[in-house]
Amino acid sequence: MSAGGTVDVVELTAADADALRDWAAVTAESARHEVGDHATAWAYEELLAVLQNPSRARREQFFVARRDGEVVGTTWLAMPLLDNLDSAQVDVHVRPDQRRRGTGSVLLRHAEHVAAAAGRTRLDAEAQWPHTGPADGAGTPGVELLRAHGYAFGIGDVQRELPLPVDDALLAELAGETAPHHRDYRLESWAGPVPDDLVEGWLAVVNTLMTEAPTGGMEREEEAVDVAAFRASEALLAAQGRTAWRTAALDRDGTVVAYTEMILPSYETRFVYQWGTLVRRDHRGHRLGTAVKVANHRALQAGADVAGRRVVTWNAEVNDHMIGINERLGFVVTCRAGELQKRLTG
Ligand SMILES: CC(C)(COP(=O)(O)OP(=O)(O)OC[C@H]1O[C@@H](n2cnc3c(N)ncnc32)[C@H](O)[C@@H]1OP(=O)(O)O)[C@@H](O)C(=O)NCCC(=O)NCCS
Repeated sequence: MSAGGTVDVVELTAADADALRDWAAVTAESARHEVGDHATAWAYEELLAVLQNPSRARREQFFVARRDGEVVGTTWLAMPLLDNLDSAQVDVHVRPDQRRRGTGSVLLRHAEHVAAAAGRTRLDAEAQWPHTGPADGAGTPGVELLRAHGYAFGIGDVQRELPLPVDDALLAELAGETAPHHRDYRLESWAGPVPDDLVEGWLAVVNTLMTEAPTGGMEREEEAVDVAAFRASEALLAAQGRTAWRTAALDRDGTVVAYTEMILPSYETRFVYQWGTLVRRDHRGHRLGTAVKVANHRALQAGADVAGRRVVTWNAEVNDHMIGINERLGFVVTCRAGELQKRLTG
């Protein structure tokens, strides 16, 4: 596609090694421009693995915008294939020295066009800005671009980081505090794939994260990832050089009622990513949220060399309970993000 006069938008394949490297470099440069060293970005090897291992749960596409042969902007477009079938997620970046020339708009419109052609009518996007900025992101480039294109602000998130290692004495203290409250539950921690006997229960809880975590004004459905698709996503993690560190809480029947997971990437050496944490509604009030997180940190620190890394986590600004747990662990605020949504019509 050629648009904006001099900008060409091209979809990448696994064979486009140079362009994929440019995609990773430009996206990282743009994200760092917004939030400095707190920017998390895909390594080239991680996105190559996505293109080499197409998922049954989610279709992901990568585009670059070129001006005079040079990559000046990037798009990531993802469409769930087992749930949320009317939705797509889009992320657009433009090289800092190339902004306000219409490139972001060209990329966003192109992604919307591809999503609409695939029958998607609900577009989700995210933008980040420094934590000193306003809660609604007014005046920041990402939010302003999205608003200019008809996206509505749905919910504000706050990113926090925790330098590793966490003091063992603090972890022991927190584990000691929570233990009397969850005597009826067993905690299991491990690295890598979810054991066969737990995987169905694990997914039953994980699939509700999207709707159980605060959603603000964002419309969302539960996920419906099945075991086969989940196993494929675990294989993709391995191909990306990422190791999942996981803890589950099991009730007396051995059913998974709470979980947490952290991702330790090998191509990115600054961060550990905190992914979901959730306690099933009917098992709340037993300090299981703190307990699974503390157990997972202990397992990670005992089993991997993570000194010098930072755990990065994102919470809805209104998620007081999870934020309280994170602050006890020592997480500090680093930047803000907003989730925005648009309904495509016609
Ligand atoms: C957001 C981003 C992609 C915009 O790229 P861009 O090429 O500068 O965007 P455009 O030139 O197409 O801007 C289109 C309109 O968006 C709005 N806009 C974009 N940047 C803005 C800013 N810094 N301040 C205010 N409005 C802005 C304006 O309405 C602009 O129109 P105008 O230039 O005629 O006033 C770029 O700033 C970026 O990469 N930011 C970091 C990543 C991000 O936040 N992505 C958005 C999430 S999808």
